Amino acid sequence: MTATSDQSVSDAVTAGAHATEIARSGASNLRGAAGGGADPARVSAVVSAALEGIRAAIRDHEVTYEEFDAFKQWLIAVSDTGEWPLFLDVYLEFEVEKVAAATQQGSIGTILGPFWLDGQAQLDSPATLPMRDDEPGTPMILAGQVTSTDGTPLAGAKVDIWHTDSDGWYSGFAAKPPAGNLRGVVRCDDQGRFEIHTRKPAPYTIPLDGPTGQMTQAAGWSPWRPAHIHLLVTAPGHRTLTSQLFFTGDPYLGNDVASADKPELTLDPQPTGHGDQVRSDRDFVLEPE
Ligand code: DHB
Ligand code: FE
Repeated sequence: MTATSDQSVSDAVTAGAHATEIARSGASNLRGAAGGGADPARVSAVVSAALEGIRAAIRDHEVTYEEFDAFKQWLIAVSDTGEWPLFLDVYLEFEVEKVAAATQQGSIGTILGPFWLDGQAQLDSPATLPMRDDEPGTPMILAGQVTSTDGTPLAGAKVDIWHTDSDGWYSGFAAKPPAGNLRGVVRCDDQGRFEIHTRKPAPYTIPLDGPTGQMTQAAGWSPWRPAHIHLLVTAPGHRTLTSQLFFTGDPYLGNDVASADKPELTLDPQPTGHGDQVRSDRDFVLEPE
């Protein structure tokens, strides 16, 4: 979300509360993980390592009672603002994604993030995402084909797509864009091809008025994510690809607060000759289950 927000409700509370509600319902558990189970050896190993990391920080940096108390207050604020999904997806999800990616064939993916929503418009390719009559931003076409790892076109493939508007706002998590804006689930044609008409998104800062943004700024880190398009590419009998696409020349590439950008995921949209419209072609390869 842009630094020059004129929204009256706190961005952190608006975005955080909804992201928490979705995480609590389990609706965003799209990779189908049932949780680590209760194997005591695994609980002990993972929790020990996590706690030891924090204990080491306390020892190595001689953390004072004052700082320990500030840490408690900060944790409580993360809960109060509903920012756990935001904080976890910005600072930890990319490591979980690396673990998952190590066993996934096909196209490279990246993190889901906290802003996917279920139940969006179902559209047939070629499709235009739901948008306002005067939706600002550069008109953009994203087109491509979904195949299996053996090259077979996947007729039943769908591309679930969501991104910010050209001011950096997500519908459903900020007051400005109407519900469903710039979100949709596009059904590919019988050759697995898709063509999606939308607007180019803008770079985004994590909400600056909540504890995640405040901690980020207190540490002197950049709160920006490069502009990105989120995608879930699905097809029957295939493992879902969770990905994002970025844009060449974006000033925040390589310095993504969520550490989710990868060079393989960068688009270089080219003018189509229709007004200021641009187009990028990108194919996706899914792994059979
Ligand atoms: C956050 C926002 C995103 O758009 C994203 O992809 C990941 C994380 C966030 O604000 O936490
Ligand atoms: Fe995002």
